Amino acid sequence: MTQEFSFRLIATDGKARRGEISMPRGTVRTPAFMPVGTGGTVKAMYMDQVRDLGSDIILGNTYHLMLRPGAERVARLGGLHEFARWPYPILTDSGGFQVMSLSKLRKLTEKGVTFRSHIDGVPYEMTPERSIEIQGLLDSDIQMQLDECIALPAKESDVERAMELSLRWAERCKAAFGTQQGKAMFGIVQGGDVALLRERSAQVLSGLDLKGYAVGGLAVGEPQPVMLDMLDVTCPQLPGDKPRYLMGVGTPDDILKSVARGIDMFDCVMPTRAGRHGLAYTRRGKINLRNARHAEDHRPLDEESDCPASRDYSRAYLHHLVKSQESLGAMLLTWNNLAYYQRLMADIRGAVEAGTFGERAALITEGWARGDI
Ligand code: GUN
Repeated sequence: MTQEFSFRLIATDGKARRGEISMPRGTVRTPAFMPVGTGGTVKAMYMDQVRDLGSDIILGNTYHLMLRPGAERVARLGGLHEFARWPYPILTDSGGFQVMSLSKLRKLTEKGVTFRSHIDGVPYEMTPERSIEIQGLLDSDIQMQLDECIALPAKESDVERAMELSLRWAERCKAAFGTQQGKAMFGIVQGGDVALLRERSAQVLSGLDLKGYAVGGLAVGEPQPVMLDMLDVTCPQLPGDKPRYLMGVGTPDDILKSVARGIDMFDCVMPTRAGRHGLAYTRRGKINLRNARHAEDHRPLDEESDCPASRDYSRAYLHHLVKSQESLGAMLLTWNNLAYYQRLMADIRGAVEAGTFGERAALITEGWARGDI
């Protein structure tokens, strides 16, 4: 018998939740951070390393994979898990967000969106039905509805139109997905920075009785307090017994503050992208390895870490690698950053279970402020 997709809450501390999503390919401990594996790779990392850091699930992108190598090709090659050698859960984004931010000559209608590939200009059509079909060809475990995410600031009428369109697309995605044992399709709350629109979006999506809910359209140009206000109005409208995923967020500070408001899942390019640009996340805040002050610094990034990248290499060597644009610099800093993010998530989960999340979050925040000396 195949396993069902299920979510259970293990503990709560205020609005913070400690839970577990179970599906045939594995269990996701929440609050969870999903490393971004856009094109079938978490850039500069081996999948074994990603797993060893405690990642239960990674994210893949419909948009990138449909363009290259193509969804049908991935299916012929055994699906994304087999292709990328990641046999654990995968969540795929629907493509809506990436089409809007990356593609050329976009045209959006009720039916869907037509666009040209940012790689070679080839035209494509993406409808809610095609997005779900592609995510099925990839064999994704958690599939996202097609939505329209608009950058902020935006006119309220534009925000409302995109939110209502996203609700209609959610129904079409639900119909296209049907019932699939062991897999899930999540709806995406939109509504920009308008509390009433967020509430309506969350209420209508809740009525669709989906297996999980994402909050989209945030961290798209608004200040952090606005994002947190939107979480304050959205989370209470979502069913308590389903996972909640804040898309594309964020910094370690965003994550602490969003967990405090009831978010269970996160993804962000920040640790991987910053790693490729010479930035290290640590218990003592962010360190820019490009800076000349590291040129003769013997100390590692974090002598107490159990990650070799953080513990065994001097800042002087990392500075040298980054300045020389060596691949190893990107690899070591990405490793350090994902190790830091996953350690933060484990810390958060432990604190919520212990009922000490507030105190722990305050201590973690203090550590960042103290600096790295
Ligand atoms: N990634 C970050 N934000 C969003 C969003 O609003 N929608 C989708 N589909 N992906 C996202």
